[in-house]
Amino acid sequence: MDYMQSSLKFKIKKVLRYRKMYGMRRTYMKVKSQIHMKSNYDHEADWINQKFKGEGKVAIIGCGNFSFSTIAFYLNQHKSGLIKYAMDKNHSRAISLCEKHNGYCATSDYQKILDDPAVRVVYIASNHATHAEYAIEAIKKGKCVHIEKPITVNYEQLDSLMQAMQEYPNSKVFLGFNRPKSKLFMKLVDYLEKEQGAVMMNWFIAGHEIEKDHWYFSPAEGGRILGNLCHWTDLCLQLVKSRDVKSCQISPAKSTGSQSDFAVNVTFSDDSVAGITFSAKGHTFDGVREYLNVHRGNLLGSLNDFHQLTIDVNDMKKKYKLRLRDHGHKANIINSLEKALEPTAFGESPEYVYNTNILVLKIKEAIDSEKVVNCEFQ
Ligand SMILES: NC(=O)c1ccc[n+]([C@@H]2O[C@H](COP(=O)([O-])OP(=O)(O)OC[C@H]3O[C@@H](n4cnc5c(N)ncnc54)[C@H](O)[C@@H]3O)[C@@H](O)[C@H]2O)c1
Repeated sequence: MDYMQSSLKFKIKKVLRYRKMYGMRRTYMKVKSQIHMKSNYDHEADWINQKFKGEGKVAIIGCGNFSFSTIAFYLNQHKSGLIKYAMDKNHSRAISLCEKHNGYCATSDYQKILDDPAVRVVYIASNHATHAEYAIEAIKKGKCVHIEKPITVNYEQLDSLMQAMQEYPNSKVFLGFNRPKSKLFMKLVDYLEKEQGAVMMNWFIAGHEIEKDHWYFSPAEGGRILGNLCHWTDLCLQLVKSRDVKSCQISPAKSTGSQSDFAVNVTFSDDSVAGITFSAKGHTFDGVREYLNVHRGNLLGSLNDFHQLTIDVNDMKKKYKLRLRDHGHKANIINSLEKALEPTAFGESPEYVYNTNILVLKIKEAIDSEKVVNCEFQ
């Protein structure tokens, strides 16, 4: 939805609601991002910020809404002068991000970024089909990468990424799955770890409506299964992670008339079961809505919008409510930066990178083919 085209009354209501959910600074940045998306600079060559001061250890590839409102915002808030390059095929957006978030250079030349030894971490938030390609090139140059979701859009990309990780183990890889680092999800995992046996998980997600001609739906980009569902398939894997899970079986169900409404059941080899339902119909005024119910041993957990968590264990009942929603964005973006720059820290393990990717790729195969599909983990 193009908020810039909506009525003043709608805009005011939306800002007031977002301020309640995300706080003043984040809401302000989301509003600025809407203006950023329409930026129009008449400048074709590399743009240099003459006022730049800093270490410039980071490059951002893809300077759209998420990079502007979240990645660059949190990096710059963490430490000014971290962003050396901003690159986008829309050069105006690269300039706008660089200017507003204190970057050094807006460029369309990826080779320049790859050849600059000062750049230690590359954040990749471009269109989905290009994530793996950009990441592999950076890995081969010894740089660390933070790859936004989806990490890969097909099996070939996944194989190439795994090969690059194996050949260049010093280039740490981090993923844009932020929700595992949200406060309430971590609390839920702590409670679950104290219980025994298989986990039963049920997710209901109401996503943003996206117009039919949006780039997400181009066949090469992987649609909403790879583009969106991967967040919650990864979370299911996080919920069974400490257990001996070797494989799973995936049963799909999809709406015949919509590319954005589907459900999937996943039965893991340890008997854990996940049901994930994704629906995107009208406008969700409060943003993406996410509800999880989970059952393990004596524990019943219920997580609403990463804002409220209810835990029942036998006669004990606990309720947690945050002042603001926390999807773990800040924690995840800063975690990638700090671990990339800390010589003794590690990136994500190749097994985890493979498993979370193969799971969502197999889920896409199951939904597209409307057939039951098996998935083997590493
Ligand atoms: N982790 C999260 O919660 C989260 C949330 C939203 C978006 N994202 C991810 O962030 C990425 C960007 O999403 P967005 O919402 O900002 O989309 P967007 O459409 O606002 O931005 C994408 C940007 O990439 C640029 N681009 C397209 N092709 C490119 C190329 N070949 N090279 C360089 N730049 C190119 C576009 O010009 C655009 O500016 C996507 O991968 C998306 O899935 C993650």
